[in-house]
Amino acid sequence: SLQRFWMLLIYFLLIYDSHNMSVCRYPLGMSGGQIQDEDISASSQWSESTAARYGRLDFEEGDGAWCPEITVEPDNLKEFLQIDLRSLYFITLVGTQGRHAGGIGNEFAQMYKIKYSRDGSRWISWRNRQGKQVIEGNRNAYDIVLKDLEPPIIARFVRFMPVTDHSMNVCMRVELYGCEWLDGLVSYNAPVGGQMKLPGFPVYVNDSVYDGAVIHSMTEGLGQLTDGVCGLDDFIHSHVYNVWPGYDYVGWSNESFPGGYVEIMFEFDRTRNFTSMKIHCNNMFSWHVKVFRQVVCYFRSESDWEPSPLFFSPVVDEKNPSARFVTVNLANHMASAIKCQFYFADAWMLFSEITFQSDTAMYNTTLAPPKTGLPPNTQPGQWRPTLCRGRHCKPARRDWQQHVRHPCADHGPATNQWTIIDTPGLLHCVPASSSTAASKSTTTSVGQDGVPHYAEADIVNLQGVTGSNTYAIPALTMDLLSGKDVAVEEFPRKLLTFKEKLGEGQFGEVHLCEAEGMQEFINKEFLFDIPEDQLVLVAVKMLRSDANKNARNDFLKEIKIMSRLKDPNIIRLLAVCIYSDPLCMITEYMENGDLNQFLSRHEPEGQLALLSNAPTVSNLCYMAAQIASGMKYLSSLNFVHRDLATRNCLVGKNYTIKIADFGMSRNLYSGDYYRIQGRAVLPIRWMSWESILLGKFTTASDVWAFGVTLWEILNFCKEQPYSQLTDEQVIENTGEFFRDQKRQIYLPQPVLCPDSLYKVMLGCWRRNTKERPSFQEIHRALLE
Ligand SMILES: *[C@@H]1O[C@H](CO)[C@@H](O)[C@H](O)[C@H]1NC(C)=O
Ligand SMILES: *[C@@H]1O[C@H](CO)[C@@H](O)[C@H](O)[C@H]1NC(C)=O
Ligand SMILES: *[C@@H]1O[C@H](CO)[C@@H](O)[C@H](O)[C@H]1NC(C)=O
Ligand SMILES: *[C@@H]1O[C@H](CO)[C@@H](O)[C@H](O)[C@H]1NC(C)=O
Ligand SMILES: *[C@@H]1O[C@H](CO)[C@@H](O)[C@H](O)[C@H]1NC(C)=O
Repeated sequence: SLQRFWMLLIYFLLIYDSHNMSVCRYPLGMSGGQIQDEDISASSQWSESTAARYGRLDFEEGDGAWCPEITVEPDNLKEFLQIDLRSLYFITLVGTQGRHAGGIGNEFAQMYKIKYSRDGSRWISWRNRQGKQVIEGNRNAYDIVLKDLEPPIIARFVRFMPVTDHSMNVCMRVELYGCEWLDGLVSYNAPVGGQMKLPGFPVYVNDSVYDGAVIHSMTEGLGQLTDGVCGLDDFIHSHVYNVWPGYDYVGWSNESFPGGYVEIMFEFDRTRNFTSMKIHCNNMFSWHVKVFRQVVCYFRSESDWEPSPLFFSPVVDEKNPSARFVTVNLANHMASAIKCQFYFADAWMLFSEITFQSDTAMYNTTLAPPKTGLPPNTQPGQWRPTLCRGRHCKPARRDWQQHVRHPCADHGPATNQWTIIDTPGLLHCVPASSSTAASKSTTTSVGQDGVPHYAEADIVNLQGVTGSNTYAIPALTMDLLSGKDVAVEEFPRKLLTFKEKLGEGQFGEVHLCEAEGMQEFINKEFLFDIPEDQLVLVAVKMLRSDANKNARNDFLKEIKIMSRLKDPNIIRLLAVCIYSDPLCMITEYMENGDLNQFLSRHEPEGQLALLSNAPTVSNLCYMAAQIASGMKYLSSLNFVHRDLATRNCLVGKNYTIKIADFGMSRNLYSGDYYRIQGRAVLPIRWMSWESILLGKFTTASDVWAFGVTLWEILNFCKEQPYSQLTDEQVIENTGEFFRDQKRQIYLPQPVLCPDSLYKVMLGCWRRNTKERPSFQEIHRALLE
């Protein structure tokens, strides 16, 4: 299945490559026909043969274009061609053309204006960033003229209104370019932005493209926070040409907000299931601008506001002045409106973008191939690179490629002709035709580094039983194990009391339960320091009774393996229920839950850190050392975990840690996994480049994941790894690790992280697996 996975992955890389996926400029269906005739209407028509439906760019049907009934006069602009897109779109480009009709026609619009609407009743006149409404149109009846919309439009309905400076007959054919507006945001209401007085000149941080009403506050509109442009680190400068200082940001001063916070209300097109919110914030602390200190969000689903809000505090960073995206986990709240109060951490708060991730917006559409290709008659040179477009914003300071590159991109222009081949100790690109033969040679069992390289078939793949990941071991070790019996006992089901569902997968569920009398069932060598009659919290992994035979066999194999794992830093299998269905595995659970939730509950620095009794850096090191120790044990058995992350570590009293494995099936963390057509689920942000590109999972790839886990710990799990990159960009970065031309991006040094620990992380992320430290070495380094 892994083989299939990476073939699929390469296939997606190629799709991205050929269609320039990350740029939101796809024709929305006038020329391609996806927009239906009945969704194209007009103020009037000259004749049946020049009706609105003939206003499609590059079409020659009817009399060759849409033409209004009467001559367009300079002072009488009433005519329009209207398109209903049926749902909200992010529109970045428009194309127009006149009526040519094989040489008979010679009517076109020299100029036009655009109006748009999100609800069909309130119409807004589009203006460019300098406030100008009129767009230059066509010079002849046949050429297509494309115009960027700066700022872009978020709308369902769009009207083209021809404009002339003298009385003339006008006909138009048009197209809209963009992509679906996945955020579903219809408006944000916020206090108006302010004006900063820096020595020498004022900085205007108002929302200059807001399209709603602006009186004392901004209502019913969208603007700079959704225009796809992320501000630079230095807020005085802008990507946008010829604008005032501070243009990219909307900002507020604490002097105007006695409550200490700015409230922004977000309204959506429908009730959505929210995963996260990302806020692009400036952090030029030397000018008293900082990321917000805390945000409190309220959710409204039907008509009522949920009583209990969600709290989130990012790490206060006084070291790195870069602008950044702060990700707020919205924990699957259902809402059609969200109201957030952003608390000041300093005198100013400056935001440039806010995006929302909700239900289908998460995975589905990013993988859907574009409806059609590039705009007609466009030269590649016209594809002006934009730094932050199509909701795939990226930090301006990094020079990201515009689209995902195939790892072999440098080997020739037609990247699909090449494929990566993995022969022990040597990775290279070869022409695709020879790849099948070459890949057969990878079944060599021992590589030059002395570490076995397992071919896919040798790996006992236990994934997929309960949808959660488990340990993968080489077949050899499996044989050694199978000689012995399962070393745990059957537990009476009736002594388990259900408390909470921890997660679920395709074939089963994981429940948190209380177990009565567990002490008797626990192996004598494994002592619990709890009284005989006390209830014990356990995790119960259960196979659905309708699971197929393969899933049952895998589940039993997993029990066999788990029962052999005995280490103070690995979750223990305590007992099983296999005499009757559903099959269950009962493992330890620890009272402080998983490490990710445990750390994100704490404030890392300042007064609050003391109040919340936050772990110190030495506590963090102690926890990391225990993870390294557990992994040292697993690696000594040649076990490969494959999903090491803070979400898969449990915390007990006194910062004790044990490694578990049920993270993948938990809804809470669905955003940490990458889905391919809704099936394969992979923790790509924790995976080594060779696991992603070659499907190769080894102890060395566990070491890589350990580096990411350590990074999470030092960040107090406040941020997802590479939070500023989309999944596609993460995969592209993986390609950069493979190509190794110094373009790969490493996770940055966390604010609290001492240099010595960052060095350990960088060691874990070395390209060459042989150069990565072993878990013994890591464990030793962390104890120091
Ligand atoms: C924002 O500030 C600029 C510069 O003073 C001004 O020209 C513009 O009209 C303002 N826009 C709004 C919407 O207040
Ligand atoms: C929201 O999405 C999560 C993850 O996909 C899902 O588990 C949950 O059931 C959804 N909530 C509702 C109310 O549909
Ligand atoms: C605004 O923030 C500055 C810097 O943190 C602080 O000195 C000042 O007292 C604050 N003003 C108000 C009104 O809270
Ligand atoms: C993905 O999108 C398609 C079409 O928009 C929809 O029918 C399907 O249900 C979506 N799938 C998921 C898993 O959301
Ligand atoms: C917690 O750990 C410290 C040192 O690691 C130890 O001295 C102390 O006894 C432990 N406390 C408990 C309650 O286990």
